Amino acid sequence: MHIGTTLTNYIIETQRDIKGATGEFTGLLNDIAISCKKISDLVEKGDLIGVLGAAGSENVQGEEQKKMDIITNEVMIEALESNGHVAAMASEEMDDVYNLPAGKVRGNYMVTFDPLDGSSNMDVNVSVGTIFSILKAPEQKETYTDKDFMQPGTTQVAAGYCLYGPSTLMVLTTGNGVQMFTLNKDFGEFIMTRDGVQIPEDTKEFAINMSNQRFWEAPVKRYIDECVAGTTGARDKDFNMRWVASMVAEVHRILTRGGIFMYPIDEKIKKAGNAGKLRLMYEANPMAFVVEQAGGLCDTGRGRIMEIQPTELHQRVPVVLGSKNEVQRVIDYHKEG
Ligand code: AHG
Ligand code: MN
Ligand code: MN
Repeated sequence: MHIGTTLTNYIIETQRDIKGATGEFTGLLNDIAISCKKISDLVEKGDLIGVLGAAGSENVQGEEQKKMDIITNEVMIEALESNGHVAAMASEEMDDVYNLPAGKVRGNYMVTFDPLDGSSNMDVNVSVGTIFSILKAPEQKETYTDKDFMQPGTTQVAAGYCLYGPSTLMVLTTGNGVQMFTLNKDFGEFIMTRDGVQIPEDTKEFAINMSNQRFWEAPVKRYIDECVAGTTGARDKDFNMRWVASMVAEVHRILTRGGIFMYPIDEKIKKAGNAGKLRLMYEANPMAFVVEQAGGLCDTGRGRIMEIQPTELHQRVPVVLGSKNEVQRVIDYHKEG
C-alpha cells in the first residue's frame, strides 16, 4: 500500500489478506473511522458547543466522568450498533457489556474501547484520543456476557487509536505492521501518511507520573533513579522526561521517536484494591498490539500484556511499553527483584 492511499482503500485491501474475512471487517473499521471523525469534530469545537467540563457522574471504576466521556461513548455506540458488523461492545465508560437492541443485526466482531482517553486533558486543550480493540465473537447469539470478552490480547484481530492533536491521526494494526493515517478535513478522509512504523530500540526519554515515586516498587524505583542520575550514574547517558497524562499521546510519541512509558503497580494502587491503573481491555491490550507490531515491547514488568488471560471486563494491569531495550531492562530489574 502506498503513502497517500485512503484508509477506506487500505482496509479493503487488508481484508483480502485476512483468512475468512468478509466485507464485514471493512465495514467495521469504516464505522470506527466515522465515529472518530465525529469525535474529532466535537473535540475541536469544544467550548463552542458546551461539551467541556464534568458530567457530575462516576464510571464503574469510580472515576469522575467528563461530559465528553459520555458523549463520545454514545458516538461510538451509535456508529457501531447500526450496520450489522458488531456482535457486542464493552467500554471503559459502561458498567456492563453493551448488547445491541432487539432487532439489530448482530455481526461477528466484538469491540472494546476507551472512547476518550486522557479526558481530563479536554478542558485544558491538550491531546486526547480514542482507543479500540477488535475481537472475534466466539459464537453467534442474541446476548453476550463478560465471559465472551475474556480473550487474551494475542487474539485481537485489529487494534488502534485515533489521536486528536494538532492533526487527527488514526493509527492501526491488523497484525501486519502499523500504519498511520492523517485526517484531511477538507474532504473528510484519513490518508495514509506512514507505513511500517518502527519504534527505535533505544531511547533517552521516559514517561512516568513522578508524583507517585514514593509508592513505587524497587525495580521501578531503580530504573527511574538510574535515568535521572544520567551521566553521573550506571546508565552513563542523560535522559529526558515527558508526561502528557493521555496514554494515546505518550504511545504516539513513542511510535514516532522512541521512548518508554510506564504506569506501574504501586503501594497507593494496591491500597485502593487495584492491580494497576490502566485497563487491560480498553487501553493495555490494544496499545500492546500496536507497540509490538512496531517492534516494541509491552509488559507488566512480570509478563507480556497480550498473554494475560482476562478475568474481569474492567481489569487493570501495570503497563511498561515502548523501546525494546529499555522495556527489557525494566523486565530484567523485576527478575532481579
Ligand atoms: P482516561 O482519561 O481514559 O481515564 O485515561 C487516563 C489514563 C491514561 O491515559 C494516562 O496515561 C493516565 O491515566 C494518567 O494518569 P495520571 O492521572 O496519574 O497522570
Ligand atoms: Mn484511558
Ligand atoms: Mn477514557
